Amino acid sequence: MVSEKLALVTGGSRGIGRACAIELAKAGYDIVINYAGNTEAALKTVEEIKTFNVKAEAYKFDVSNPDEVNKNIGAIIEKYGRIDVLVNNAGITRDDLFIRMTDDKWSDVINTNLNSVFYVTKPVVKLMMKQKCGSIVNTTSVVGVYGNPGQANYSAAKAGLIGFTKSLAKELGSRNIRVNAVAPGFIETDMTKNLANTDEMLKLIPLKRLGSPQDIACAVKFLAVDSQYITGQVLEVDGGLII
Ligand SMILES: NC(=O)c1ccc[n+]([C@@H]2O[C@H](COP(=O)([O-])OP(=O)(O)OC[C@H]3O[C@@H](n4cnc5c(N)ncnc54)[C@H](OP(=O)(O)O)[C@@H]3O)[C@@H](O)[C@H]2O)c1
Repeated sequence: MVSEKLALVTGGSRGIGRACAIELAKAGYDIVINYAGNTEAALKTVEEIKTFNVKAEAYKFDVSNPDEVNKNIGAIIEKYGRIDVLVNNAGITRDDLFIRMTDDKWSDVINTNLNSVFYVTKPVVKLMMKQKCGSIVNTTSVVGVYGNPGQANYSAAKAGLIGFTKSLAKELGSRNIRVNAVAPGFIETDMTKNLANTDEMLKLIPLKRLGSPQDIACAVKFLAVDSQYITGQVLEVDGGLII
């Protein structure tokens, strides 16, 4: 079942990842999504992707577990033969004020949002080097650039992704592999549905609305596919929240 062009989206079952997978399917990519546990959402997304006449499949594995990552990325490469676009999107929050933050809240977020990207990207880059082409988009956050009280763990992970993105862009440019990041602002997904201060947030957003997963997916598709001479960049997609 070799693919002509394939995109792998981690955390592609719901929210921003789901929208990215659908946008890349519209651009003609076969899609592999990864997810952690919500099989019902993953299968629903796969069925929706298939309506764009591309191949689609979901792989359940924990991106923060290096053994699971190596086994599953190996299986994906074995089956499809190539990965043209990698969207490192899977992520979690475990918010708390720093003074109350437990070791577990710190390490869960660093492992899932930052270490995972090291684990997933390594085997994919090896393949992209053989292919002599590839494009990677990492999902960071405006919080990784500007910080946020109650999110020291999340901000540290997302800031780490920005350094990772720029370093890899410099290392891999000569191999025809581009590496960029998208930095969403406040996007309406399951991750943000329980946040209380939405009205206050709206006052700070010049475009006067929260973002949608589709807003981010358009930027990811632009960076991944359309922008052939852009690498090492962090594109903020936040309705003007940070200007
Ligand atoms: N929403 C925002 O306002 C916002 C703003 C800035 C940045 N971001 C970033 O954008 C990305 C997507 O966020 P979202 O709002 O779309 O989140 P979401 O709706 O909560 O979806 C999270 C996705 O990540 C998957 N996932 C979580 N932990 C995983 C793990 N250990 N291994 C594999 N997959 C895992 C989930 O799989 P299951 O369905 O199986 O649980 C799901 O597909 C994250 O990196 C987040 O930090 C979001």
